[in-house]
Amino acid sequence: MEASGKFIVFEGIDGAGKTTQVELLAQNLRSLGREVSLGAEPTTLESGRAIRRALSGAEKKSECQMAAMFVLDRIAHNIDSEIGIRALTEKGIDVISDRYYYSSLAYQGAATDYGWVKQMNIGSPEIRRPDLCIYLDLLPEQSLERISRGRESVEIYENLEKLTSVRNTFLSVIEDLRGEGESIYVVDANRPPEQIAEEIFAIVKKHI
Ligand code: TMP
Repeated sequence: MEASGKFIVFEGIDGAGKTTQVELLAQNLRSLGREVSLGAEPTTLESGRAIRRALSGAEKKSECQMAAMFVLDRIAHNIDSEIGIRALTEKGIDVISDRYYYSSLAYQGAATDYGWVKQMNIGSPEIRRPDLCIYLDLLPEQSLERISRGRESVEIYENLEKLTSVRNTFLSVIEDLRGEGESIYVVDANRPPEQIAEEIFAIVKKHI
């Protein structure tokens, strides 16, 4: 029987360099002859597009509505017959996701009720736990500087106070889920991308 692919998640506050590291890890895994599929949340599915509209401020939603919308999108990301994590890993393909439920626990957990958000995510039979999570750690000041350099529009979650509180929440989410046996690594993201990628590849190789 074909071995199942691994499901690896990248997390971090905005501007931590997740997109770059997702790409570099995919290249490194492919160099080992593995098949890799890249995903992100919010997804490109209808449930993800609705989230984008809400994040841009075009369609106002409450924090609880946002929490539920992210769960809906995450379930779709798991079970979609084409881009779904389940279908791909069953075919032996590694899936790397730019964000997953750690973001919901940090952002919506802080904005609504942590226990409720955690239960909706971790407790869902259609939301699987990743094999590995890499948290790219950046100080909020460094994050904001990168964001303002690279982009014109600043989404609603991107201000210093919020980034500080989200980073602190992320660190406690990591502690919480490590306590449940999850493999989560905190990687210093304030370094050259190649150096970060090398450290991440070494970690990932231990898990494949
Ligand atoms: P990004 O494409 O830059 O990662 O933006 C997605 C935004 O959505 C980012 O500000 C974090 C936020 N988000 C949540 O609040 N909860 C979630 O569960 C996810 C996946 C993202």
